[in-house]
Amino acid sequence: MERSYFEPYKTKMTEPLYLSSGAEREEWIRRAKYNLFNLRSHQVMIDLLTDSGTGAMSDRQWAAIMTGDESYAGSSSYEHLKETIREITGFDYFLPTHQGRAAENVLFSVLVKSGDIVPGNSHFDTTKGHIEFRKARAVDCSVDEAFEIDSDFPFKGNVDLAKLEKILKENPSSKIPMVIMTLTCNTTGGQPVSMENLRAVSHLARKYGVRLFIDGARFAENAWFIRTREPGYEKTPVRDIVREMFGYADGMTMSSKKDGLVNIGGFIGFREEELFRLATTFNIMFEGFITYGGMAGRDMNALSVGLKESTTLEYLEARTRQVALLGEMISQYGIPVIRPYGGHAIFVDALRFLPHVPREEFPAQTLAVELYLEAGVRGVEIGALMADRDPVTRKNRFPALETVRLAVPRRVYSDNHMRAVAEGLKQVWDRRDTIRHGMRIVREAPILRHFTVELVRVTKKEP
Ligand code: F0G
Repeated sequence: MERSYFEPYKTKMTEPLYLSSGAEREEWIRRAKYNLFNLRSHQVMIDLLTDSGTGAMSDRQWAAIMTGDESYAGSSSYEHLKETIREITGFDYFLPTHQGRAAENVLFSVLVKSGDIVPGNSHFDTTKGHIEFRKARAVDCSVDEAFEIDSDFPFKGNVDLAKLEKILKENPSSKIPMVIMTLTCNTTGGQPVSMENLRAVSHLARKYGVRLFIDGARFAENAWFIRTREPGYEKTPVRDIVREMFGYADGMTMSSKKDGLVNIGGFIGFREEELFRLATTFNIMFEGFITYGGMAGRDMNALSVGLKESTTLEYLEARTRQVALLGEMISQYGIPVIRPYGGHAIFVDALRFLPHVPREEFPAQTLAVELYLEAGVRGVEIGALMADRDPVTRKNRFPALETVRLAVPRRVYSDNHMRAVAEGLKQVWDRRDTIRHGMRIVREAPILRHFTVELVRVTKKEP
């Protein structure tokens, strides 16, 4: 029998949840135009919309907030964070930013130009957005297993080395500003990259004279999976794994809202002083002066503590096992989810859950709405709505995976909340054959439409 686990902390403060009725939720979701982003927070009982910026800080972090140094220049909070980042990641230079996408914006302003190619393992939306905004191309070199829902391959975040080498071989290095590895890979289900793969990618990139950057939003969770799944790392301390991971890269972008255990913030880490200097100009223009970027001194202090807390074995075990517990409880009902369970979220396969709902009627959005109505749980559609229309043909794009992501905030919910989520989903599962119609769009933005889209229910076969 597997040893049980418990959280290495206890609760000191609570926040009440409003327990709503089904009738209330029916009214709210109708008024929200069937878009879960339009719901007010009190209208949601268990909020699994995102694990980003939604975690709970420790008393140590709150204490550090009180000693934040808000000096415009030369803040001690900056110096402290710089030391912590150097200690945890090994990068000597860093720039604070207000969140992860801001780090991408600053870094890519230096490195990415029109016509460039940026290969990697399924880039996150904002990463891809910032690349495409500069008229460059993000090329997905993920292993094929990444798109096989039932495959138990332990490192679905890996890059297929042959696919990557082909890109590196066929294009001049002047057109490839960097390879980006996202750890863990959110887009394909919170799946980790193995150390072996990272090492090989780094070797390849170096061979072709291309930089390797890590999108480290969930780097600590990635380190946990290396420790628990990759032979040879069973006894390696988490911090050593983290140092080795970043040791293969030339730099990193970070959304501190995930494994930084803070509610806002980001940074860029650099190995080269020259690159850091070039990026500094853009950071000052877009984010703020070098020693605060987009962050308050107090928030930099909280991040210094958060980075240390998230890279401990006890924290990571409780974190990943809670997510896995949710996956296990859902799977036990026979509900199809992406396997192995991700580090930060469980992804429910909407195509197999609601086979009667045509793809044009957005099965994952339909399932997300049904789960909300059933149990007051908010997940997020990762499917055709989020994929937007093809920029040229303006036709809906239907990605390989059509899922509802249930992202678990860090240190916020108990296992009982997870049980309620699984039971809510089971209630929908039991009546899935009665759900034959989905949603129709009545208003949408030209890009990133899922945030503001307005929908109605389809009640009968549309002509
Ligand atoms: N990279 C990854 C892998 C992410 O998951 C995110 C954000 C970002 C970069 C951008 O960071 O939000 O701080 O600007 N992911 C959130 C999510 C939004 O819900 O998955 P940000």
